[in-house]
Amino acid sequence: MRLFLDTANLEHIRHGVELGVVTGVTTNPSLVSKEGKVDYRSLVKEICAIVPGPVSTEVLSLDADAMVAEAREIITWAENIAVKIPATPQGLKATSILARDGIRVNMTLCFSLNQAMLASEAGAAYVSPFVGRLDDIGEDGMQLVVDIVNYLSYYNRPTQVIAASIRHTAHCLSAAKAGAHIATIPYGVLLQMVAHPLTEIGIKRFADDWNKVMGTAGILP
Ligand code: G3P
Repeated sequence: MRLFLDTANLEHIRHGVELGVVTGVTTNPSLVSKEGKVDYRSLVKEICAIVPGPVSTEVLSLDADAMVAEAREIITWAENIAVKIPATPQGLKATSILARDGIRVNMTLCFSLNQAMLASEAGAAYVSPFVGRLDDIGEDGMQLVVDIVNYLSYYNRPTQVIAASIRHTAHCLSAAKAGAHIATIPYGVLLQMVAHPLTEIGIKRFADDWNKVMGTAGILP
């Protein structure tokens, strides 16, 4: 399972890419707003220059023709952009138009298998089930990821699943076990994934044992 960062924060994206584990980014209007009153185009271009893989950039229009026009503008900002479009009738119409032209669409705000099936039929390159937000309302968000992965695999569909609205490391594990192609995760969750107290204890013990016998000299002269 590939890992994307779900953020528009440049510092966090740079760090994730430096670690060699983050290959894409997903943004949305809320995440961009967290960075203050920025120039959307400039920010997206900067993100695209840092990260190798797709950078999901959301349209703001609700009408299909306007979504298509926005998408056509957004994809001129960088080569590695996927356009994020909500799972609505207008969104499906826009997706089918854009997909015919080979433009990658990430169909977002997906809360049901029906929406995911339609996204795939319309030609979306990615579909993003929102796990945490389903959990929030007492549903099993990860079961939706399982169902979508099974559906796409059974029918040999090319659409990839981005497990989104990930809230904690257990979500990451479950998304991987479910066969999600990608999980898009907050920066904090990425840091939690690597942290383990036994690793820290182990490093200290190795250093203490070495230093007792060898002194504090390292390997390099
Ligand atoms: O990319 C959008 C999605 O991940 C939102 O997450 O935490 O706002 O439900 P959240």
